[in-house]
This record gives sequence, C-alpha cells and structure tokens, in this order.
Amino acid sequence: MTVTLREITAANLGPVLELRTTPEQERFVSTVADSIAEAAANPHGNPWNRAVYADEEPVGFVMLSWDVEPQPPHINGPWFLWKLLIDVRYQRQGYGREVLRLVVALVREHGATELLTSYVPGRGGPAGFYARHGFVPRGDRDPDGEIILRLDLRA
Ligand SMILES: CC(C)(COP(=O)(O)OP(=O)(O)OC[C@H]1O[C@@H](n2cnc3c(N)ncnc32)[C@H](O)[C@@H]1OP(=O)(O)O)[C@@H](O)C(=O)NCCC(=O)NCCS
Repeated sequence: MTVTLREITAANLGPVLELRTTPEQERFVSTVADSIAEAAANPHGNPWNRAVYADEEPVGFVMLSWDVEPQPPHINGPWFLWKLLIDVRYQRQGYGREVLRLVVALVREHGATELLTSYVPGRGGPAGFYARHGFVPRGDRDPDGEIILRLDLRA
C-alpha cells in the first residue's frame, strides 16, 4: 500500500468531500467541505491542502498553513498543521502516521524547523496521537481554547 498526498481537483473532489469521521469526532475536526471553505475564507493563512490516497483510494484530507508569516494569536506558523482527517473506515491502520511522515519530510525540504498544530481537548480526541508522534505542548492556547503543540524538526 502506497500513501500519497494528491492535489484536489474537479476530478477527485466528489469522493474527497465524502470522507467522514465518526459523529463523535466531528467536534475535533471540521468536514472536508468546511475545511475547504475555511481555507477560501482565510487566504492570509496561506492554506495548502491535499487528499490522502492509499494506492488509488482516497482515505483522508490534510491542510496546512504553508510557510505563513505568524500573526499571533490568530495565525500560527510558519508551518501549521491546520486539519488532519482520516476517514472512519481507514482509521487506526497507520495512515495518520504516514501522513505526518510525508508532511514532515515535505516541510523540512522547504526549510521548516518546527511543525505546529492545535487540538480541541476532550475524550476520544487526537491528543494521544500527537503525543505519540513527538508533539509537545508549546504552553499556550489559541483564541478558541485549542491547545497548541509543536514538533521540533531540527533533530
Ligand atoms: C487522529 C487521526 C488523524 C489518527 O489517524 P489514524 O490513521 O487513525 O492513526 P494511525 O493508525 O496512523 O495511528 C498511529 C498511532 O497513533 C495511535 N493513535 C491513533 N489515534 C489515536 C488517538 N485518537 N489517541 C491515541 N492514540 C492514537 C495509534 O494507536 C497508533 O499507535 P501505535 O504507534 O502504537 O500503533 C484520525 O483518527 C482522525 O482523523 N481522527 C478524527 C479527526 C481528528 O481528530 N483529527 C485531528 C485533529 S485536527
């Protein structure tokens, strides 16, 4: 199984928009449609998004703020993992980890020394996933109360 990050185009938008979390997880990440709308509404966040494919099957969605000028507290960066969603049918099969690996390699290639993200605290949320992959709290929250995490890429 090969995991790739592919541009979202008219040709694959339909199936990508159908990717879903469980209803309980909807409080932790927005739908793909809402994420794309959020990107369009926030061009100053320099959004970059891709569909996650396992071979020829769309399994997830990822969105970053790409090398953006940080304007705290609303814009964190330069490199910020804004959205990560693996469809419920494909969770816990290693795809989330592989997306992180690919994203880290990509942003490193472009000179990133840290990758930031944030999460909504709560039962069933992604805190454990991020902790397992080396993200640590930066010590602050964003204006929505999300906990900001950082992954040091200099090691
Ligand atoms: C969180 C999410 C991206 C993880 O992706 P995934 O493909 O299910 O995770 P993986 O299978 O790659 O898991 C990698 C490791 O993290 C662990 N893990 C995965 N989700 C976890 C969670 N919610 N809590 C704790 N550990 C978790 C796995 O057990 C695995 O551990 P291992 O190294 O011991 O095998 C995915 O479950 C998801 O989309 N959740 C809903 C949306 C969300 O919360 N997104 C993040 C917020 S923006």
